[in-house]
Amino acid sequence: MDNRPIGFFDSGLGGLTCMPYLMRELPEEKIIYFGDTARTPYGSKATDTIRKFSIQIADFLVENDVKMIVIACNTVSAVALFDIRERFPNIPVIGIIKPAAEKVIQACSAENRIGIIGTKATILSGVYDQLIKGQNSELNVFSMACPAFVPLIEEGILNNEIMDLTIKHYLNDFLLENRIDTVVLGCTHYPLIRENIERLYPGIKIIDPSQEIISTIKDVLAERDLGAKDSTFGSTFYASDLSENFTNMIDRIFENTEVSIQFKNLEF
Ligand code: DGL
Repeated sequence: MDNRPIGFFDSGLGGLTCMPYLMRELPEEKIIYFGDTARTPYGSKATDTIRKFSIQIADFLVENDVKMIVIACNTVSAVALFDIRERFPNIPVIGIIKPAAEKVIQACSAENRIGIIGTKATILSGVYDQLIKGQNSELNVFSMACPAFVPLIEEGILNNEIMDLTIKHYLNDFLLENRIDTVVLGCTHYPLIRENIERLYPGIKIIDPSQEIISTIKDVLAERDLGAKDSTFGSTFYASDLSENFTNMIDRIFENTEVSIQFKNLEF
């Protein structure tokens, strides 16, 4: 048993999309979350910059005595997972791409046409392709970078015409030309536009890594006997810029639970 909190982080509010699943599956666990809202988006930045920011955040989480680091960001998982693991060899560090790739392998066959959508850095890294095709070379995998999604989502532009047009801009030809039937939301911000995608492309099957990562967290907690029991910690959500959308989203997710929301400035 270990009552210390789990450290979660993302470039912004995207990683919060894991929270409802976490609360449902692991209600005893407490969280320290860091959203780098001042520097989001990461996905169009150079890999060295993404690595530098991510290590800074991982350091902050470890200073706060987390028992595990969960990279609730596909971009960071694609670019900096091994750097963070190397820096903290004694703390389990979980990336979000592997659990998602495992779900694809388990749920899809050679008949499926799988579309990975994500940030530029995630798609350019090719990590989804490598993990999926490395396990099953018969699977048909196609990828599309959608760099405008994250800035719009961070702005709270969700259920409206602007977002629908942006989705169509990236996905209409991609889905049609490649005859995609399964879309992997390869960015933790994208579950916030899942409804738009389902409405615009009825019948499309969606795989959501924000949900899939929870079973990996569960397994690692069990394997290492790190699960919490009657913890007296409260969950704390830090952001490098306390944007209204960030605080509103936390209020929405934790409507009946008291959590602390704090500003944290990261120095360069
Ligand atoms: N939520 C991050 C991801 O999963 C978004 C990255 C960004 O800031 O561009 O990739």
